[in-house]
Amino acid sequence: MIDLNTMVDPDRGWNDPRIYTDQDLYERELEYVFGRTWLFLAHDSQLPKPGSFIQTYMAEDPVLVVRQRDGSVKAFLNQCRHRGMRICRTDAGTSKTFTCTYHGWAYDLAGNLINVPLEEVAYRNEIDKSRWGALKVLRIANYRGFCFGTWSEETPEFEDYLGDMAFYFDAVVDRFASGLELVPGTTKWVIDCNWKFAAEQFASDMYHAPVSHASAMMALTDDPNASGGNSNQNAPGRQFGDNGHGSGGFFSPQAVMPAPYLGDATYAWMKTKEEEHIEQVGIDRVLKVNNHNTIFPNFSWLAFGLSTMRVWHPRGPGQIEVWAWSYRPKDAPDDVKAEMRKMTQRTFSPAGSFETDDGENWTEIQQVLRGHKARTTKFHTGMGLGHDEQDVHGLPGSSNHVYAEHAARGFYRRWRDLVTGTPWARIQKPDRARDAADSALAEEA
Ligand code: FES
Ligand SMILES: [Fe+2]
Repeated sequence: MIDLNTMVDPDRGWNDPRIYTDQDLYERELEYVFGRTWLFLAHDSQLPKPGSFIQTYMAEDPVLVVRQRDGSVKAFLNQCRHRGMRICRTDAGTSKTFTCTYHGWAYDLAGNLINVPLEEVAYRNEIDKSRWGALKVLRIANYRGFCFGTWSEETPEFEDYLGDMAFYFDAVVDRFASGLELVPGTTKWVIDCNWKFAAEQFASDMYHAPVSHASAMMALTDDPNASGGNSNQNAPGRQFGDNGHGSGGFFSPQAVMPAPYLGDATYAWMKTKEEEHIEQVGIDRVLKVNNHNTIFPNFSWLAFGLSTMRVWHPRGPGQIEVWAWSYRPKDAPDDVKAEMRKMTQRTFSPAGSFETDDGENWTEIQQVLRGHKARTTKFHTGMGLGHDEQDVHGLPGSSNHVYAEHAARGFYRRWRDLVTGTPWARIQKPDRARDAADSALAEEA
């Protein structure tokens, strides 16, 4: 087992690669990271009426997320309390109850045990059903139609947990007065890599785009000089982190994505929406903040235009299951909606031209890490270290040049705090004082 306190050093800019391979550490992640953070469960549009449900996961734990009769959302472990079979084996649907297919125990929409077959004969009426309901997800937060859940009582309230990220999340989810919807159905695929490679990249890595995505970009735009990102060294994009802790993202500013990204119908329709966007989220955010982001630990999205949201479900230290959705405004005309869906499929789906570039990098890295020397040779995470700025360009909290690893360092700082078992009360606090201390440390190094 590696020393928990010296696995990553976001203040000096390096990681120990064993954080991507170590099985014992992975077990700690399940308990101390995924067991103590807010995890994305479902969007309101996936649960349209009472009894609507979907199956998903909180890390490796299967959960059922269900719309209740009173309109609220509840979630519980999809595990029967008799012998542990899945209570429900359907991906999504509408139901009044859930009956286990093994011996027939039945649960209501909130996961309470309501019927056991042969209760009188087999159990002599001696089973206390009220004690044997499914394990409830302790807390659910519905933030602008996005439901997150946590098993932990000590996790800060969701809005505190989001911190500065609310500004950026709202820039995406509040942009349209009608709200967003997820295209029905979940696109799922497996990548043989550690979950942190994917989550960190969506939080922090504009740097790979001009190199990794160059050929995809040329094909997409029909421009032989195109690169897969804004390769202009002076690009005024920014990278931001929740004051250096946990969630983070980045963007290159533009009012509306260029037509080659969006398609003609979408581009024309988006033009008619500019006034609405300004009213919804303000001119600053409309012009600047179409962002890519990860809400710690494993919920990520890409900016409107690419329009993908996904969860990186961990499957051991060396594998993830990606669950992805294309998002779009609810009130878009059908032809625009179809175009948006195709754009996500073309770029960021299992066979998407950009997605496959990313997966190729991550799986190669994971294979390289099979080597002992490879696993014990530090990685550099110091891009832009010492150059964070506070509250600049109308952006709240800390930010840095778009080509930086500010958000990555924040991601690993939060991860270290959690995986070492630090109580939330000591982690979550106004961070300016702590950031000052961190910078002082970095200067010493
Ligand atoms: S495992 Fe579910 S009823 Fe037996
Ligand atoms: Fe990428």
